[in-house]
Amino acid sequence: MAATAYFFALFFSFALLSGFSLAGDPFVSYVFEVSYITASPLGVPQQVIAVNGKFPGPVISGTTNYNVVVNVFNRLDEPLLLTWPGVEMRRNSWQDGVVGTNCPIPPQWNFTYDFQLKDQIGSFYYFPSLNFQKASGGFGPVIINNRDLVPLPFPMPDGEITFVIGDWFTQNHTALRSILDSGKELGMPDGVLINGKGPYKYNSSVPDGIEYETVHVDPGKTYRIRVHNVGISTSLNFRIQNHKLLLVETEGRYTSQTNFTDFDIHVGQSYSFLVTMDQNATSDYYIVASARFVNETVWQRVTGVGILHYSNSKGQASGPLPVPATDVSHPWSVMNQQRAIKQNTSASGARPNPQGSYHYGQINITSTYILRSMPPTTINGSLRATLNGISFLNPSTPMRLADQHKVKGDYKLNFPERPLDNRPPRIDTSVINATYKGFIQVIFQNNDTKVQSFHIDGYSFYVVAMDFGIWSEDKKGTYNNWDAISRSTIEVYPGAWTAVLISLDNVGIWNIRVENLDRWYLGQETYMRIVNPEENGNTEMDQPDNVLYCGALKTLQKEQHNSAATSILNGQLKLIFSMMMVLVVTSVSAFC
Ligand SMILES: *[C@@H]1O[C@H](CO)[C@@H](O)[C@H](O)[C@H]1NC(C)=O
Ligand SMILES: *[C@@H]1O[C@H](CO)[C@@H](O)[C@H](O)[C@H]1NC(C)=O
Ligand SMILES: *[C@@H]1O[C@H](CO)[C@@H](O)[C@H](O)[C@H]1NC(C)=O
Ligand SMILES: *[C@@H]1O[C@H](CO)[C@@H](O)[C@H](O)[C@H]1NC(C)=O
Ligand SMILES: *[C@@H]1O[C@H](CO)[C@@H](O)[C@H](O)[C@H]1NC(C)=O
Ligand SMILES: *[C@@H]1O[C@H](CO)[C@@H](O)[C@H](O)[C@H]1NC(C)=O
Ligand SMILES: *[C@@H]1O[C@H](CO)[C@@H](O)[C@H](O)[C@H]1NC(C)=O
Ligand SMILES: *[C@@H]1O[C@H](CO)[C@@H](O)[C@H](O)[C@H]1NC(C)=O
Ligand SMILES: *[C@@H]1O[C@H](CO)[C@@H](O)[C@H](O)[C@H]1NC(C)=O
Ligand SMILES: *[C@@H]1O[C@H](CO)[C@@H](O)[C@H](O)[C@H]1NC(C)=O
Ligand SMILES: *[C@@H]1O[C@H](CO)[C@@H](O)[C@H](O)[C@H]1NC(C)=O
Repeated sequence: MAATAYFFALFFSFALLSGFSLAGDPFVSYVFEVSYITASPLGVPQQVIAVNGKFPGPVISGTTNYNVVVNVFNRLDEPLLLTWPGVEMRRNSWQDGVVGTNCPIPPQWNFTYDFQLKDQIGSFYYFPSLNFQKASGGFGPVIINNRDLVPLPFPMPDGEITFVIGDWFTQNHTALRSILDSGKELGMPDGVLINGKGPYKYNSSVPDGIEYETVHVDPGKTYRIRVHNVGISTSLNFRIQNHKLLLVETEGRYTSQTNFTDFDIHVGQSYSFLVTMDQNATSDYYIVASARFVNETVWQRVTGVGILHYSNSKGQASGPLPVPATDVSHPWSVMNQQRAIKQNTSASGARPNPQGSYHYGQINITSTYILRSMPPTTINGSLRATLNGISFLNPSTPMRLADQHKVKGDYKLNFPERPLDNRPPRIDTSVINATYKGFIQVIFQNNDTKVQSFHIDGYSFYVVAMDFGIWSEDKKGTYNNWDAISRSTIEVYPGAWTAVLISLDNVGIWNIRVENLDRWYLGQETYMRIVNPEENGNTEMDQPDNVLYCGALKTLQKEQHNSAATSILNGQLKLIFSMMMVLVVTSVSAFC
C-alpha cells in the first residue's frame, strides 16, 4: 500500500519531440487515484475524498501551452468527473468535466483527461463536479507558470505557498445532499479548513487536539501566496496578522499591484498575493480565513486559523485574532475592494505583449443576457434554485455527444435572454443559443439573499461594473472600459448586479453556473452553446478516442477491464513510470 501511494505521488514531466504533440508543446502527466480516506479535520472522524491519499489533492503544475494528461482512477462508490474551472479548454469541452458535456467516470473505472494550457498563466484549482462531492474534498490547486521568455511583472519571489481554504461540514456529501433533497437549507458550516486542516487553538472556543496548518518562512523573504476558496458556499475574509497582502494576480491575469490588510475571497475564486516577511518575529502570526457577509458573532466557529512561523520566531501566536479592516455593514466599502482589482495593462501574461492591448471597451456589444437568480422555490414538489425562472435539468446524454451523434430532443436552445416575470418557474434542459464571434454582455442580477459567485467555463470575461439595485441600460455609462480585470469567477452581492463582457471565440458547449454548491445542486446553472456556422459546427476538436458514452448512447460504451487496470497499476505500470522518470527534462523551452 505504501509503495502504491509512493507511486501515485510521482509525476513526471518530459518534453516530447516535435511531431509527437500539438505544436511540439511539452507534456506533463499525472495519475490521480480518487478515493475515500478517513480524516478528522475538525476533530470528528469522517470520510473525505482524497487524491493519491492526499487531502487536499496534489498540485497540477505546468507552463503556458503545456499539454496536461491526468489519468483518473475512480475509487469512489459513485460516478466521478473532475473539472478545472478557469482552464479554458480551447475548442475542447470534451475535457471540461461537467455532466452537461461529459459522461461520468463510473466507479472503479479510469479515464484520461488530456488538455492544453493554451495561452494561459495563473492560479486555478480542480474539483469533483458531481453529486456534491466537493463538500467531501477531491480538490487541489492548478498552477500555470509563465514561459521563460515572458517576465513576471514583479521580482521572482523567494518561495511559493498555496492555501486551499473553504467552509466545511463534519457531515459528508451524501448526508448534505439529503438535507437539500428534503427541501432544507444546509445552515451554518462546522468550520473552515486551511489546506485540509482545522483551526489552531487561538482561544477556548476551539476544541483540543485539532491538527492545524503551519507555514514555515524566513525573515526578509517575499513569498507568492496563492489562495483558493474551494468551499461550499461561504465567502471568506483572508488575512495574515501584521502582514500586508500585495495583490498581484487573479485567475490568470496580473493585476495592478495593490496592498490590502485583508481580502474577501468568494467561493470558487483564486488570488495570488506577494507577502514580505517584514516583521520582527516576537511571536508566530495568525493566518485567518473567516466567514464573511453573515452574522459574524453567530458564525464565529466558521473561522480557519493557521500559523505563520518565522525561522527566527521567539514564541507562539497568542491573543485575539486580527479583524478585517472593512466593515461589511457598509456594503459600499466591501464592493470598493472588488472595484480596486484592475488589470495591469502593461504586464505580459501568457504572451510577451501587454495584457491590456486588447481594446474590449471599444467593441460593440452584440447581445445582452440578464441572468437573475432568485431564492430557492418549490417546483413540482421539490426545492429548486433558478436562473431566469429555469431550474436546469441535466440532459440524459451530454450535449456535445448528443450533437455529434445526432441524438434529437436532448436539450432546448431557448434559454431566455431576460428573466420572464409572467411565467412560473420551471425545470428544463434549456441552453443559451449564443452566436460565435459575438461580443456579449452578461448581467448577473442576484435577487437571492446570499452572496453568490458565478463562473463560466471555457472563457474569461471582463468584469466592467458591479453595483447595488437593478441593472438598466444607462448603467453602461459607468463601465470600466479600459483596465477591467479579466477572470472566470465573479461574486454578485445580494440585491446587486455584476456586468461582464465576453468575446465568444471558443466553440463548444460551456457551463454557466453559480459556484455556491447548494444553489448549483438545486439547478442554478445553464450552458451556452457556441458553434461556428461556417464550419457546420465542426470547429471543435474531435471527440477523444477514450470518450465515455452514456444516456441514449450508452450501448456504444465498451466495458472496462477493471481488475486488469488494478493489476497493471501495481505491476508493470510502476516500472514504466520509473523508466519515464529518467526522461525528466527540467528545463523545457516552449515556443508557440
Ligand atoms: C456519509 O455519511 C452517511 C451518514 O452519516 C453514512 O451513512 C455514509 O456511509 C457516509 N458515506 C461515506 C462515503 O462516507
Ligand atoms: C486506464 O489506465 C490504463 C493504464 O494506465 C490505460 O492503459 C487505459 O488507457 C486507461 N483507460 C482510460 C479509459 O483512460
Ligand atoms: C505592471 O506591470 C509592469 C510590467 O511588468 C510592472 O513594471 C509594474 O510595476 C506593474 N504595475 C503595477 C501597478 O502593478
Ligand atoms: C505595499 O506595502 C509594502 C509594505 O508596507 C510597501 O513596501 C510597498 O511599497 C507597498 N506597495 C504598494 C504597491 O503599495
Ligand atoms: C516587534 O513588533 C511588535 C509589533 O509591531 C512590537 O510591538 C514590538 O515592540 C517589536 N519588538 C521588537 C523587539 O522590536
Ligand atoms: C447577530 O446575532 C446576534 C445574536 O443573535 C444578535 O444579537 C445581533 O444583533 C446580530 N447582528 C446583526 C448585525 O444582525
Ligand atoms: C474567541 O475569539 C473570538 C474571535 O476573536 C471571540 O469573538 C470570542 O469571544 C473568543 N471566545 C472566547 C471564549 O474567548
Ligand atoms: C459600433 O456601433 C456604432 C453605432 O451603431 C457604429 O457606428 C460603429 O461602426 C460600430 N463599430 C464597430 C467596430 O462595428
Ligand atoms: C412537473 O413534472 C411534470 C412531469 O414530470 C412535467 O411534465 C412538468 O413540466 C413539470 N412542471 C414544471 C413546472 O417543471
Ligand atoms: C441559434 O442561433 C442561430 C443564429 O445565431 C440561428 O440561426 C438558429 O436558428 C438558432 N437556433 C435555434 C434552435 O434557435
Ligand atoms: C428582489 O426583487 C424584488 C422585486 O423586484 C425586490 O423588491 C427585492 O428587494 C429584491 N431583493 C433582492 C435581495 O434583490
